[in-house]
Amino acid sequence: MRQNIVAGNWKMNKNLQEGVELAKELQSALQAEKPNCRVVIGTPFIHLTEVCKTVDQDLIGVSAQNCADQESGAYTGEVSAEMVKSTGARYVILGHSERRAYYGETNEILKTKTDLALKNELTPIFCIGEVLEEREADKHFEIVKSQIEEALFHLSADDFKKIVLAYEPVWAIGTGKTASPEQAQEMHAFIRKVLADKYGQDVADEISILYGGSCKPGNAKELFSNADVDGGLIGGASLKAEDFRGIISAF
Ligand code: G3P
Repeated sequence: MRQNIVAGNWKMNKNLQEGVELAKELQSALQAEKPNCRVVIGTPFIHLTEVCKTVDQDLIGVSAQNCADQESGAYTGEVSAEMVKSTGARYVILGHSERRAYYGETNEILKTKTDLALKNELTPIFCIGEVLEEREADKHFEIVKSQIEEALFHLSADDFKKIVLAYEPVWAIGTGKTASPEQAQEMHAFIRKVLADKYGQDVADEISILYGGSCKPGNAKELFSNADVDGGLIGGASLKAEDFRGIISAF
């Protein structure tokens, strides 16, 4: 179901105590001033259980930042989708460019991770996006299209409707070089067209497509005012309650 979503991705930041503290701060702030969008926080694995106990998940959803591409077994250090589910979390960020770049996650691996996430009733927040060289070579549309086709187009329409997409131009992540509202809208509209060509316009119109990449309180409103931008996936600005709330209040 399409909805406006502001999701935080804490990445590898905050120890357990700091993370629970931030979750408590957000819970009390949003309890007092209900948001006009769905709010989700993506925490490190070790925080999930405690954060799920700390927040009201009807108010703040809780997300892992990854899950294994195996159901269980001799995979030292890995965390399965079932384990994520057992913490109480109901979302999982998949395909983040940092995992693609640093840990070799391919579209094929992400296809398996997506299937395991859905099997365990997790909502994937599936990341797609081009690097600067691809945009400069005018290949950004074909790159994003192939990321969606190769990892997600095996899904039935009913399963695809459970996916949240996050377009994150890699050159905007952590750089302060936010995509312009026009660039964001252009790519989001393209993504929705790709979905419509595969599943039909009705399904395409039901998918939430978030923008990520240096989204801040000062630019969120302009980004989110675009027809095909349904919110944001927020890194640095999600680490402080005040900044994150500043983005949430853009809706
Ligand atoms: O997943 C969101 C993240 O990649 C964006 O990071 O710090 O540019 O908001 P940031």
